[in-house]
Amino acid sequence: MKVNGKHYRSVWPIGDDAFGIIDQTRLPHEFVTLTLRSAAEAAHAITTMQTRGAPLIGAVGAYGLALDMRRDPSDENLAKVHDMLAETRPTAINLRWALGRMRDALLNRPRDQRAALAWAEAAAIADEDVAMSKSIGEHGLKIIQDLAAKKPGQKLNILTHCNAGWLATVDYGTALAPIYLAHDAGIPLHVWVDETRPRNQGASLTAFELGGHGVDHTILADNAGGHYMQAGQVDMVIVGTDRVTANGDVANKIGTYLKALAAKDNAVPFYVALPSSTIDWTIADGRDIPIETRSADEVLKMTGRLPNGSVALVEIAAPGSPAANPGFDVTPARLVTGLITERGTCAATPEGLRSLFPKA
Ligand code: MRU
Repeated sequence: MKVNGKHYRSVWPIGDDAFGIIDQTRLPHEFVTLTLRSAAEAAHAITTMQTRGAPLIGAVGAYGLALDMRRDPSDENLAKVHDMLAETRPTAINLRWALGRMRDALLNRPRDQRAALAWAEAAAIADEDVAMSKSIGEHGLKIIQDLAAKKPGQKLNILTHCNAGWLATVDYGTALAPIYLAHDAGIPLHVWVDETRPRNQGASLTAFELGGHGVDHTILADNAGGHYMQAGQVDMVIVGTDRVTANGDVANKIGTYLKALAAKDNAVPFYVALPSSTIDWTIADGRDIPIETRSADEVLKMTGRLPNGSVALVEIAAPGSPAANPGFDVTPARLVTGLITERGTCAATPEGLRSLFPKA
């Protein structure tokens, strides 16, 4: 996608010994790119959320591992770097999927070839993610077209939570990909953007993306979505996900579950968009998904621009009060209208997923 007229992916190779990312902790106030030169730097970028979003951290983990194969291509180091990167964030399965794919591509291959093989495999993971996102967009577009046909001459109102756009993938996004395609196809639409406390990925990143693409949108306090659903001002919800279990349960950014409950109560269709790299076939119950606990500081403090133009971190809570900060929650499959994947849309059921991925 474009930033100030220049096309960017959210991760890109620089020669064959470094790669670039956008520092997402600086958005929307500043657009800053970073050059990463080691697996340790990649791990740091993932942990601090300079780079985030389930598919994107998979690609960044893959490039990080590839860099370390230049330094030491031994089996021991491959296992060590794999495990070090896998531990950076626990909920998004894409990270483990990408690292596992890298390991499988390198084990049993000559050591002197591993660095080049790893670099090519990381690039393939990134390119395939772009293709999957584009395909998700096309399948989601059909759903948007059907809903828009029921509201001729009126804007379709779509609510989304967190950031599942091009900044969370390598390009296009998952939940936002159908929205971009619908906008480009001339379908009139408006997006309600949940601010997504505590880190504000909606207000900071999704709004940045939609504004950059010219999509009409409004930022909402997280608690306001139910109100607008009751008022008939939400036609559909689309969110991304960090892990979908084999029975269709969906882990996504904390607060997603409450939106799904409100959507169910108001008969608003609730769709989840994902590449197949987000499906965890080994888990059949969302309660078994590990939920990341993040720092209390994310709840107690907030970053913003001050009137003098500088960006600062400020305290927003009563001094001394503790805070809890689960990063994700699980939306049970029964609340999900459909899963939009690169192979089409299916029911959030074991049969639905199997119908699209019979060999998985
Ligand atoms: O903690 P984050 O910002 O990495 O969480 C991101 C999300 O929850 C996204 O919705 C999810 O990763 C899907 S991104 C296509």
